[in-house]
Amino acid sequence: MSQPQPQPAAPTLSIGPHLVQPPVVLAPMAGITNAPFRTLCREFSGGKGLFVSEMITTRALVERNEKTMQLIHFDASEKPRSIQLYGVDPATVGKAVRMIAEEDLADHIDLNFGCPVPKVTRKGGGSALPYKRNLLRAILKEAVSGAGDLPVTMKMRKGIDDDHITYLDAGRIAVEEGVTAIALHGRTAAQHYGGTADWSAIARLKEHVPEIPVLGNGDIWSASDAVRMMRETGCDGVVVGRGCLGRPWLFGDLVAAFEGRTDARAGGTDGWGARPVLRTVADVMVRHAALLGEWIGDESRGVIDFRKHVAWYLKGFSVGSEMRKRLAITSSLAELRAGLDELDLDQGWPDGADGPRGRTSGNNRVVLPDGWLRDPYDCAGVSEEAELDTSGG
Ligand SMILES: Cc1cc2nc3c(=O)[nH]c(=O)nc-3n(C[C@H](O)[C@H](O)[C@H](O)COP(=O)(O)O)c2cc1C
Repeated sequence: MSQPQPQPAAPTLSIGPHLVQPPVVLAPMAGITNAPFRTLCREFSGGKGLFVSEMITTRALVERNEKTMQLIHFDASEKPRSIQLYGVDPATVGKAVRMIAEEDLADHIDLNFGCPVPKVTRKGGGSALPYKRNLLRAILKEAVSGAGDLPVTMKMRKGIDDDHITYLDAGRIAVEEGVTAIALHGRTAAQHYGGTADWSAIARLKEHVPEIPVLGNGDIWSASDAVRMMRETGCDGVVVGRGCLGRPWLFGDLVAAFEGRTDARAGGTDGWGARPVLRTVADVMVRHAALLGEWIGDESRGVIDFRKHVAWYLKGFSVGSEMRKRLAITSSLAELRAGLDELDLDQGWPDGADGPRGRTSGNNRVVLPDGWLRDPYDCAGVSEEAELDTSGG
């Protein structure tokens, strides 16, 4: 009889002192990756992986804006606590980072340079900012020096558009300024979320900055995609965003895949995919909504915040348009549960639910400040208005 073969150990990602094994990271997503959603993902992953907060603007943090202080809340069991910051002014970023370090608000800080939203890039913020190399350097310098022992990582896109690619220069600057790791979303700002992510850029960045870990991001829809990205690009870890929308159990699949456990989950098309029946999905939905209510301190507001998740959870299931609409306007847990209970909860996981989900729009012209592209090395600053009303990456 053949002996069971020992499984190779899952790869480990080092983010400063934090060892992430397997090397899977929940992408920061504004309005989504708050403490309740991170809790759900962590439960499915068995506590393994790294779960980044939704983006916090540095100015709101230093001003101790009430909503922002709630957004930086971590569950007592979250270790390491990972905060994503977005800022355009080196001094304000420095202040925010020092506040986090001195008041022990987090264990890891990620800086967001990937937001493609026009109202942000129009002011030179988000994914427009790395084009100004000196400004990027100044922000990273302030962040790393203010963070003390806390590791600082950055997340970015390939560049503004195909003619203005910034990620290799930005990667080198990050290494020089002491950034701990870099995550690259393999799209330009112009692409928004359209087309396919260019994983070859992730491989190039890895070759370009061998000194620090590189995390690959973009279009991981299943655990096998994650394993394939690691293999094809040589990256040190994966960052998973839209694939988890309405599917927090993807984290269980990711962990199983990296640990080489093909038998651990109900078999999906790729051997790893958890493909729950609607009854199980409905239970997760109600729990997600309840966690949001507990976090906000008001059941109804929690259920209202949950409405944006309904379509993602139900993607591909036979639900009917009237019921979809009804479920997307519920205001109490009882109403949500009652609506779900009217469905055929024995439905199996639909084939159509496995691929892309969430935002997929693309090919937008990037709106920039006048003359922005004239000189990548001038010392122009960016108005802090570029921090207002931002909605992610
Ligand atoms: C709703 C939403 C909100 C997002 N918010 C942020 C954010 O706050 N910070 C950030 O760096 N990226 C943000 N992103 C970008 C994701 O982190 C990720 O880079 C992108 O979705 C590509 O990865 P994916 O293909 O796995 O989704 C957001 C994306 C979505 C869909």
